[in-house]
Amino acid sequence: MAEDLTIIQTTDKALQYQSLIPQIEALITGEDDLIANLANISAALKEQFNWFWVGFYMLKNDELVLGPFQGPVACSRIAKGKGVCGAAWEQAKTLIVADVDEFPGHIACSSLSKSEIVVPLFHNGEVAGVLDVDSEHLAHFDETDKTFLEQLVKLINLA
Ligand code: SME
Repeated sequence: MAEDLTIIQTTDKALQYQSLIPQIEALITGEDDLIANLANISAALKEQFNWFWVGFYMLKNDELVLGPFQGPVACSRIAKGKGVCGAAWEQAKTLIVADVDEFPGHIACSSLSKSEIVVPLFHNGEVAGVLDVDSEHLAHFDETDKTFLEQLVKLINLA
């Protein structure tokens, strides 16, 4: 597919995901390099939603290690149970945090980040990494983001 995206201008989040996810699927289908695909997914999400930070942490030697992302520099490693990412890994479920200052142990890579959603990536039933999205607005993420981001990460071939 051509390496460009159609970005739609609407405040309807579901419509934005419905436009973007098939384009991401086309972008990563036929490409078996994981880093290339994670990089393009981060870039596509940033282009459509212009979130403060969006990217991946991947599980390596029992730590989450920073992977492809878009946004300011971030911490490189996160231990199990630490921060929102480490908690999502430990609990093996999506976490939505409306106000990161209220989340015990939140890892503040930037003081500008106010709310966050972390979606685990599963491989053979185990967490293999997480998709982390940060917003500079409070309570920016909801069940719509959870539904569509969970659908999106299922497209990633982690084999
Ligand atoms: N805030 C995250 C750490 C990663 S950065 O936000 C990019 C956390 O608490 O896990």
